[in-house]
Amino acid sequence: MSNTMEKESKMNISFSPPDITEAEINEVADTLRSGWITTGPKTKLLEKKVAEWIGTPKCVCLNSQTACAETSLRILEIGEGDEVITTAYTYTASASTIVHVGATIVMVDCQGDSLEMDYDALEAAITEKTKAIISVDLGGIPCDYDCIFSIVERKKNLFKPNNKIQEKIGRIAIVADGAHAFGATWHGKMIGSVADFTNYSYHAVKNFTTAEGGAMVWKHIDGVDDEEIYHLAQLLTLHGQSKDALAKTQLGAWEYDIVGTWYKCNMTDMAAALGLAQFERYPELLKRRKEIIEKYDSAFKPLGVEVLEHYTNEYTSSGHLYITRVPGISDQQRREIIIKMAEAGVVCNVHYKPLPMHTAYKKLGFDIKDYPNAYKHYENEITLPLHTKLTDEEVAYVVETYCQIVKEYIN
Ligand SMILES: Cc1ncc(COP(=O)(O)O)c(C=O)c1O
Repeated sequence: MSNTMEKESKMNISFSPPDITEAEINEVADTLRSGWITTGPKTKLLEKKVAEWIGTPKCVCLNSQTACAETSLRILEIGEGDEVITTAYTYTASASTIVHVGATIVMVDCQGDSLEMDYDALEAAITEKTKAIISVDLGGIPCDYDCIFSIVERKKNLFKPNNKIQEKIGRIAIVADGAHAFGATWHGKMIGSVADFTNYSYHAVKNFTTAEGGAMVWKHIDGVDDEEIYHLAQLLTLHGQSKDALAKTQLGAWEYDIVGTWYKCNMTDMAAALGLAQFERYPELLKRRKEIIEKYDSAFKPLGVEVLEHYTNEYTSSGHLYITRVPGISDQQRREIIIKMAEAGVVCNVHYKPLPMHTAYKKLGFDIKDYPNAYKHYENEITLPLHTKLTDEEVAYVVETYCQIVKEYIN
């Protein structure tokens, strides 16, 4: 880009601002005026809408994906002495939740040519202590669930259940980190109705937001009452209190019991209000993401930039992240490109610095040398802005800017 062009036409494009309209503002204002701002009718309505859309028996909305994932593990009574397998190429919450419940993280590298877990390594990592696999639908693209389910079926003979729910599942549980995957599909089924438990994030940078928030959904387990799971989730996430605040306001219903010294991570009705308004707009938001991805793909693929396939015959992604890899560049060159993009007004990001490169995971004994594929993918990875506040002109600007900068680095 020439300096004159740069000055005349420079845009400022942020990475992932929330898409908030008057509809969200009005719904939140309605909650503020209603006299009920914490968990109540709007949270329950959002749970109902999500469960219906995903096609699961129930849904539990909480204050984050992290809280939802922990709750799934606690419902399964996974804890000390148990192992849970996840990938090195993810955000910390996929793994830190395993530590939170007292279990041991077993971390698997990704594949040489894909950001998905190496499924052979996954199978090899299974022991008699393995109780769950946290699969990560990175960027909104579903994992290969056929493969994951066939692995846990093959390893059924090793499985020793801890509680009734695990016993009824009868094999290692699949607890999907669907933080990015709200609205994605796998073989025509919504992500959420594929794994045993799935946990979405509704954090401010996600496709669908409640500012902070998340939802846990699960597939019906034969021999387990879905209401029992729902009730247990309420207890685990609201102090172990036998009645929630709304139930206590009913006439004469002041008395409650504390049945466990548990956690506090419920969703507020203010957050749920935001979600209810987003929910009405979500099909349009997913469509817009697809349009942007198609524009990006048609510009970057011919250049030799590696991108993820978001839409195939097997699955449709929720289009959460536009992850690119520039073949042959070093970590240093990747950093240079990100700076040049920032100078041109386009904020980029990296997804992800593999977990074994972070201090906390080094302290736990993980070493990036054991995750060569994760490192290889990370080294030349650049994530471009992908969100529904982008105008067509801004999309064209990102395309033009990235193409011009990256061309200098591709042989
Ligand atoms: C892959 C992944 N898992 C889990 C989380 C945690 O989500 P939350 O912030 O809602 O707890 C995130 C958040 O960025 C994420 O990217």
